[in-house]
Amino acid sequence: MQYYNKKTVLVSGASSGIGIAFCKELASYGANLVLTARRKDRLDALARQLRTSYDCEVTVIPCDLSDPAGPEALVRDIRDKAIAVDIVINNAGFGFNGTFLHGSPEKYQQMMQVNMASLVMLTRLLLPDMVRRGSGGILNVSSMAGFLPIPYFAVYSATKQFVINISWSLWKELQGTGVHVSALCPGPVDTEFMEVARVDRKKAAFRGTQSPESVASRGLRGLAENAPLKVSRSFLRIAYLLSKWVPVRLGLIIGGMAMKK
Ligand SMILES: NC(=O)c1ccc[n+]([C@@H]2O[C@H](COP(=O)([O-])OP(=O)(O)OC[C@H]3O[C@@H](n4cnc5c(N)ncnc54)[C@H](OP(=O)(O)O)[C@@H]3O)[C@@H](O)[C@H]2O)c1
Repeated sequence: MQYYNKKTVLVSGASSGIGIAFCKELASYGANLVLTARRKDRLDALARQLRTSYDCEVTVIPCDLSDPAGPEALVRDIRDKAIAVDIVINNAGFGFNGTFLHGSPEKYQQMMQVNMASLVMLTRLLLPDMVRRGSGGILNVSSMAGFLPIPYFAVYSATKQFVINISWSLWKELQGTGVHVSALCPGPVDTEFMEVARVDRKKAAFRGTQSPESVASRGLRGLAENAPLKVSRSFLRIAYLLSKWVPVRLGLIIGGMAMKK
């Protein structure tokens, strides 16, 4: 995709799953990359692979986005290296499947920080340069779990609803600036997310898991088209539209049945 050629793209959550898929596809389009996540060994290995396979510059900057100071430190490191970020992909995130009381307060604190607060801060810190240049992009990875409240996925689904809302608002606000904004809403994807969130893989497989590569591909197309919301599969569009019409109480029953252990 020409949109990404020679662009510098910051990808959070680049050490695993959908993040790795974003990086490989972006490198194939001729983008330069800044990779971030906590696991430096994985980022270094991916960077080596990308530099060998594609003609691209790759910079690794590890960062813990559950630390409120993380986004500022990351942006400072990027500026110290004199890198101008054209596009940010806010992909880092995690969930927890279980009763609300089963999850620890610390886990929820970290989840809200990574999935929401760090996304807002990275966007806020990197956006001014994009607007000044008259071009740029923000791709926020949400989830179809953000369409409706979901019992047993309560905090996660609320964080992903936040991501959808802020993406719509920024998409509207930034019209005419040359900066694209898109929220990507995947269904179940075959990544480490399942183990981290303690989602039952068999139940997820029943709902139909998707490969990280096909999800990343849809997301990159969505941002290039400046689509405010992109589902990772065509039929999920129906789920999205239904979520606007289904009474919340019915949605709670369906969502609860899907996520109850
Ligand atoms: N898999 C699914 O079914 C699914 C469905 C819908 C939406 N999503 C969303 O897709 C995105 C990517 O998830 P995935 O499926 O690729 O899962 P994954 O394989 O578990 O990858 C999650 C990424 O987030 C990073 N991350 C987690 N906590 C972090 C922290 N404190 N600081 C910095 N980075 C952190 C991880 O890196 P480190 O551990 O190295 O820090 C990892 O690179 C997430 O936002 C997720 O909510 C996933």
